[in-house]
Amino acid sequence: MADTMRALISGRGPEWVLDEVPVPQPGPGEVLIRNLAAATNNADLPMLAESDPTNGGHGKEFIAGFEYAGDVVGLGEGVDTWRVGDLVMGSTPRSFADYVIADHRFVLPRPEGLAPEIACALPTGLLTEHGALTAAGFTAGQSVLITGASTGIGLIGAQLAKALGAARVIGTTRKTDKRELLVGVGVDTVIVTDEQELSEAVLAATEGAGADVVLDHVAGETFAQCLPATKVDGHVVNIGRLAGPASTINLDQLSYRHLTVHGVSFGFTRDWEMAAVIAGLLPEVIPAVARGEIRPVIDQTVDIADFQQAAERLRSGEAAGKIVLTLASA
Ligand SMILES: NC(=O)c1ccc[n+]([C@@H]2O[C@H](COP(=O)([O-])OP(=O)(O)OC[C@H]3O[C@@H](n4cnc5c(N)ncnc54)[C@H](OP(=O)(O)O)[C@@H]3O)[C@@H](O)[C@H]2O)c1
Repeated sequence: MADTMRALISGRGPEWVLDEVPVPQPGPGEVLIRNLAAATNNADLPMLAESDPTNGGHGKEFIAGFEYAGDVVGLGEGVDTWRVGDLVMGSTPRSFADYVIADHRFVLPRPEGLAPEIACALPTGLLTEHGALTAAGFTAGQSVLITGASTGIGLIGAQLAKALGAARVIGTTRKTDKRELLVGVGVDTVIVTDEQELSEAVLAATEGAGADVVLDHVAGETFAQCLPATKVDGHVVNIGRLAGPASTINLDQLSYRHLTVHGVSFGFTRDWEMAAVIAGLLPEVIPAVARGEIRPVIDQTVDIADFQQAAERLRSGEAAGKIVLTLASA
């Protein structure tokens, strides 16, 4: 193994910089992974902007990225859950590099035959959407409303809900041309929020009852509209704040419908809680992935050398699904 590797560095300017850096060594409880592909996330861009020293950012350099897929090439002291050669995928900081270090508890098995450039786009969506469904106490037979169902993780959430037995999945997008995209991942009722009023459309799709569980990726005004669209005794989980973190809600709707509101942010979850969230994927979710019931929607795949193209696509807001960086020469 070489001493250095390629990595996309944040904190030097407005763009990532592709550079050679030392290959990290696994510490106690850690695993060293040869990374074959990495997927971008919405959070990558604000993190890059906040680190840009030429525009008031903190200027602390770090390797960008969160998602990876590859195989295990090294084990830190005390790791007996993985072996060298195991096929893996996961969500951990510093994934835009040829080698990734991960806490052994946060690594997921990559099913045989699932190519790295597909697998790398799954982990954040799987753990976030499953973690949110778990927080809501979701059970098979319930209905699920997913706002921002066209997001990379929302598209995984829709398939996950169906694989776990959701009776009905309702998904929102702002744009009518994304209708087919949502239908393609199993959304039963698509609501185009540029054209339809969210609460009314959800009530119409649920015989006036509302959805049992809401996975909200949008927040802002949409979060407020979710409350009257949720069934009595239902659960609303805020996952993302694409339309902004503030929302003015009608507390009558919360109280009279006996709703429970949850917030999840797995990037800020304590390690022991995160280990439980990851372990929660093993009994049902990873087998569903292995059976091909859950697949990420990939917008485009580019070599890491063409990272600028990936950044531009991510910034455009036009991507349908995930953008993947391949690291084939690792
Ligand atoms: N809680 C957690 O642990 C966690 C983990 C991962 C991600 N997240 C959050 O989840 C959200 C989705 O992440 P992602 O990486 O999957 O996103 P993404 O793929 O980049 O989502 C892009 C899509 O979001 C929709 N969108 C963008 N701005 C919007 C707005 N103002 N109002 C409504 N929809 C808007 C657009 O869909 P349409 O054009 O179809 O409307 C756009 O195509 C982000 O807010 C992210 O920070 C949270």
